[in-house]
Amino acid sequence: MEDLFIYSETQIEPEELSPLRTYFDIEQSSQNCVEGLLYRDNELYYRSKERGDIQFNLNELWASHQNKKYSINREPLAKSLGIKGQGMTHVWDLTCGSAKDSILILKFGARVTAFERNPSVAALLLSAREKFNSNSFQINFGSALDYAELLKNDPPDVLYYDPMYPEEGKKKSALPRKEMQVFRELVGNDLDEEEVFKWAKGSGVKRLVVKRGVKSPTLTARPSSKYIGKSARYDLYIF
Ligand SMILES: C[S@@+](CC[C@H](N)C(=O)[O-])C[C@H]1O[C@@H](n2cnc3c(N)ncnc32)[C@H](O)[C@@H]1O
Repeated sequence: MEDLFIYSETQIEPEELSPLRTYFDIEQSSQNCVEGLLYRDNELYYRSKERGDIQFNLNELWASHQNKKYSINREPLAKSLGIKGQGMTHVWDLTCGSAKDSILILKFGARVTAFERNPSVAALLLSAREKFNSNSFQINFGSALDYAELLKNDPPDVLYYDPMYPEEGKKKSALPRKEMQVFRELVGNDLDEEEVFKWAKGSGVKRLVVKRGVKSPTLTARPSSKYIGKSARYDLYIF
């Protein structure tokens, strides 16, 4: 169990924030929060000194797709993942982050098992997950590479990997949104891409999709195919 420090003016009761307690021992501080996790009026936020408070809302993300009709035969992400009919494809999202991609993949009709290794980001996700009603979305704290047992017992059809990498090579025109900026503050760059690629290759899962900037270099080896969208490219590796 890892200690998780949360600021709150009121006492956090043992039954509150229960999904987080699977992974964390919650340490509370009633001091004024300048930066860090903040619990207020039953909601969990991350307060950045520079950029204010952020929070994830999976229901809002889901609702943002409500009026969109996606054709899984045409969407680059859905095609790269090889998504078939409703509930038939099981995707491991190795890099859940704000869960934007996970929710879109769910919307495409897949079942998603997601992983997030940054404790603060994971805490925000787990707290947001509690308010989101779905039987097809599971979030785990930690690196997917440490979930060998789960991989064996409930193997996915495809691995999806979207590491945080240096701004360079990404589209420069669009300023990152506030949460993306806070992400950068929190997680920095993911510098273990090669290790993850090697693990993916030896995992027994036949398919890996890596998200890149449209013009970014490929991760490592040459992909089997590339699916290019408006703001991202999905490199597919078939092992
Ligand atoms: C670029 S963000 C992912 C954005 C995400 N696709 C979205 O839709 O918001 C990368 C995230 O993955 C996490 N991460 C990177 N490598 C990981 C790993 N091996 N296991 C679990 N989480 C990882 C980072 O902490 C960070 O929050």
